[in-house]
Amino acid sequence: MAKSWTPQSWTEAEARHHPVYEDGAVLDRVTGTLGSFPPLVFAGEARALQADLAQVAAGKGFLLQGGDCAESFAEFHPNNIRDTFRVLLQMAVVLTFASKQPVVKVGRMAGQFAKPRSAPTETIGGVELPSYLGDIINGIEFEPEIRRNDPERMLRAYSQSAATLNLLRAFSTGGYANLRQVHKWTLDHIGKSPWGERFADMADRIGEALDFMAACGVDPMTVPQLQGTSFYTSHEALLLPYEQALTRQDSLTGQWYDCSAHMLWIGDRTRFEGSAHVEFLRGVGNPLGMKCGPSLAPDALLRLLDVLNPAREAGRITLIARFGHDKVEAGLPALVRAVKAEGHPVVWSCDPMHGNVIKADSGYKTRPFERILAEVRGFFAVHRAEGTHAGGIHVEMTGQDVTECTGGLVDITDARLADRYHTHCDPRLNGAQSIELAFLLAEMLNLELQDGARGTAVLAS
Ligand code: PEP
Ligand code: CO
Repeated sequence: MAKSWTPQSWTEAEARHHPVYEDGAVLDRVTGTLGSFPPLVFAGEARALQADLAQVAAGKGFLLQGGDCAESFAEFHPNNIRDTFRVLLQMAVVLTFASKQPVVKVGRMAGQFAKPRSAPTETIGGVELPSYLGDIINGIEFEPEIRRNDPERMLRAYSQSAATLNLLRAFSTGGYANLRQVHKWTLDHIGKSPWGERFADMADRIGEALDFMAACGVDPMTVPQLQGTSFYTSHEALLLPYEQALTRQDSLTGQWYDCSAHMLWIGDRTRFEGSAHVEFLRGVGNPLGMKCGPSLAPDALLRLLDVLNPAREAGRITLIARFGHDKVEAGLPALVRAVKAEGHPVVWSCDPMHGNVIKADSGYKTRPFERILAEVRGFFAVHRAEGTHAGGIHVEMTGQDVTECTGGLVDITDARLADRYHTHCDPRLNGAQSIELAFLLAEMLNLELQDGARGTAVLAS
């Protein structure tokens, strides 16, 4: 029998990658204030996302999750929010067309502030200071006062999240997400890029489908669904006092929800059995993600699934595989088989970013585009072989024209990384690389679709 859960029962468990605050009184005051603030999302929205994800788990949809590695106070600007949202929509149109399935869109946005770090301290020029843990905890500048953990930062993160979410909601429903408009951006983008020819054919086919629908009277002018879209938010639920303060009991169902975002995930470094993060998230009704890396054994995964989803609700759990391009084909099958054999209805998503970080000769941390793509290919190959659904992609990306990941058709070289390397943590795909990834994914989804059709034909014969 599981022990009873409360929003603070996590405090009895081991919390790794969690800040220590010097002044408990300030922390209590801040979390008390946050507790009196409005929730950022409504429980019913989290349930709607879970229902969408249940379709993905059943093989009838695809999850697109993406955004910054770490949002920051300094980069908070409407244009950044708009451009990332726009690229995610462009990716979603391409993926919907290729998979012939609904694409569930979830931003790593409006709350993705706290970061687990490989080392607790950083040394520069003989000076050792605490590592940067994300703007919700401390600051990135290498100065003792700024690297101090400051609870007040949570209030700023809350207000930035609220304003970001407000703009995302306005864009999603206010006409900006109009399907024709989104496709036009993709055409403009392809028209401007020297490598556009590679994807022009698929883009033309999407355009023809839209023209055909319009001729049949199905047009954003006549069908309101084509004017807008559903867009959800997510982040790693790392900073538990913040998450706890935004956890509320739903008045309709009595169930607890973490109302800081629609979906929360547990990182690869905090998903060990008995962890405070697992304890906290098992009690909230939101759909949950869990990162799965090479150190996760199949039996431990099954025990974690039993803790996080004892009722085996479809759409509750998304397993986000992040093995690395050279490990995914060896490591993932055992997990997929175990989950399938136990009958857990999960979404399998691929994070091709976190297992593929290298240090470039220039000294920058980067992720070569070809390794990202190789991991995605490996992920799809495993699911094809196991007869399971490759259900989603989880990427660190931005709509900005940054130079953080090498490669891609835009061909960012190591020497160019210094040009526009703006990330507050890990290197992100830029707008062009993200759209290229969507077209390449589309080719893989097409194969899955053909397999499915062949499978049906075999069954029917
Ligand atoms: C992340 O998603 O930013 C992250 C830290 O990932 P992981 O937990 O997989 O290392
Ligand atoms: Co990251």
